[in-house]
Amino acid sequence: MRLLPLLFGLFGGLSSVSAQCPDYSDYSMARHEPFSTGKHHLSYQRPIAACRTVNISDVEKTIQDMKAVVKDPDLFRLFENTFPNTLDTTVKWKGYAEDDSTEELTFITTGDIVAMWLRDSANQLRSYKSLLKANKSPNSLASLYRGAINLQARYVIRNPYCNAFQAPAESGLPPESNGFADTDKVTPPYNTSFVFECKYELDSISAFLQLSHDYYSKTKDSAFFGKYRWVEAVETILNVTEGLLVGTYADDGSVNVSPYTFQRQSTSATETLANTGAGNPVKGGTGLVRSAFRPSDDSTIYQLFIPANMQFSSYLGRSAKIMKAHNPELAKRMRKLAFSVRRGIEKHGKVRHEVLGEIYAYEIDGFGSRNLMDDANVPSLLSAPILDYLDASDATYQRTRKFVLSTWNPYYMHGPVLNGTGGPHVGPGRAWPMSIITSLLTSDNDAEIVKGLHELVSSTDGLGLIHESVDTFNASVWSREWFSWANGLFGEMLLGLRDRKPHLLETSFQ
Ligand SMILES: *[C@@H]1O[C@H](CO)[C@@H](O)[C@H](O)[C@H]1NC(C)=O
Ligand SMILES: *[C@@H]1O[C@H](CO)[C@@H](O)[C@H](O)[C@H]1NC(C)=O
Ligand SMILES: *[C@@H]1O[C@H](CO)[C@@H](O)[C@H](O)[C@H]1NC(C)=O
Ligand SMILES: *[C@@H]1O[C@H](CO)[C@@H](O)[C@H](O)[C@H]1NC(C)=O
Ligand SMILES: *[C@@H]1O[C@H](CO)[C@@H](O)[C@H](O)[C@H]1NC(C)=O
Repeated sequence: MRLLPLLFGLFGGLSSVSAQCPDYSDYSMARHEPFSTGKHHLSYQRPIAACRTVNISDVEKTIQDMKAVVKDPDLFRLFENTFPNTLDTTVKWKGYAEDDSTEELTFITTGDIVAMWLRDSANQLRSYKSLLKANKSPNSLASLYRGAINLQARYVIRNPYCNAFQAPAESGLPPESNGFADTDKVTPPYNTSFVFECKYELDSISAFLQLSHDYYSKTKDSAFFGKYRWVEAVETILNVTEGLLVGTYADDGSVNVSPYTFQRQSTSATETLANTGAGNPVKGGTGLVRSAFRPSDDSTIYQLFIPANMQFSSYLGRSAKIMKAHNPELAKRMRKLAFSVRRGIEKHGKVRHEVLGEIYAYEIDGFGSRNLMDDANVPSLLSAPILDYLDASDATYQRTRKFVLSTWNPYYMHGPVLNGTGGPHVGPGRAWPMSIITSLLTSDNDAEIVKGLHELVSSTDGLGLIHESVDTFNASVWSREWFSWANGLFGEMLLGLRDRKPHLLETSFQ
């Protein structure tokens, strides 16, 4: 096992702690005692207290509370390992901005990669949203949220088309090198001291709005949003997304210059874009915002990607309420765009499936082509209710859900180990536990939820963590040992069941 010195800022100051702690990539690949007492003998996967990156007492208390209500020892072990995983392992640095000693900053990595994804970090924190409350203390969930919003605002203002970023200079952490990106040709250009990867994904900037809404909705801390660069970041997002409403061709037939292009040398078609980096042609005038990549970091086939447009419309509209106190004109612009994107989704994003009737398409191009599929990564079609875009009882959503969780979906995988959606990122044959978790978050059906919990608890290969993908025929074949977003999502889902379906936590999976 590799031993690395772990460096991170202590709350309330910039002093750093160094301890001999195992690299969690190695730690999470091995089984550690005490094993859970159920038939799956799941490993204990929390690092020792001195090696955890953050300690929040409300989270510790929640784990203790859940111990009393989750009857199955394997299910509880999976919760105990996964729920705190972001705090235990990925808050690599927390401190203050160099030019303003009151501006909190939180650098949160995805897990196995030392870089901060806008999407992952927003969702990693979302797993603690139910425990979030107003709190000025630097040793609080509220402070972690504020720090992440400030750092994301900095990232968005500097590189609004990018998806993954380096640690801030204040942290003293060196930039991580990204071998995959060495050959990337990207416009607008960026500096690898700040950016880890620059795949333009509408869901990345939507994640910033989601994170902002999450913090505001639980704390009502309006003043915070006027203090630093939040307003400027939102204006940047409006400028960028309004520029991405245009189609490939102008009315006179000339080709509009794409505001963003990306080319990578790769043997994988989903790692680069057609048409010299601009992507496949898109028709203008639909009201939908283009996205070059998906939340899986795979390229879109058709750039009018419906799930990210749902997420964008939802949180742009909700964040307009925050903006109103700081810049009423911008708030109006936000509401207007949120509305026109929603209109575009409802007008162009709903299509006829030959057997199931009207459903939402995954992607369209505006010319009439549509891609009917779903991918496990959120935002997905399956996740529309948790994006606060619609209610799970919506009839079109219910038909779409049926489609997604059926063999009509080209990326639905089934087998004896688990059944769920996957995607081209890892490929056919691999279902992603994240999709099962999403199906439980959006289900009111006890039998479906119990079946999903059973699949999740029995498919960790004894390691007691949520992996990225699992072979539907062999639980020992999986990807990504340390995927904090998926771990957090599992914790969030189980905690949600305590409130909405506590009787299910009495189920035994032995
Ligand atoms: C977290 O901090 C509390 C007090 O602040 C302490 O009692 C507890 O032992 C700590 N837990 C861990 C896991 O470090
Ligand atoms: C990238 O940023 C670093 C750090 O600020 C700077 O030293 C370097 O000159 C920049 N590189 C380019 C190509 O601008
Ligand atoms: C947004 O675009 C307007 C018009 O081009 C420009 O004046 C403004 O500075 C831009 N705002 C940001 C934050 O980039
Ligand atoms: C997956 O679905 C198939 C039917 O399509 C079923 O036979 C199988 O038992 C399911 N697998 C699990 C793990 O539930
Ligand atoms: C499952 O995968 C593991 C790891 O690759 C392999 O050792 C094992 O033989 C496989 N089991 C079956 C039944 O194929």
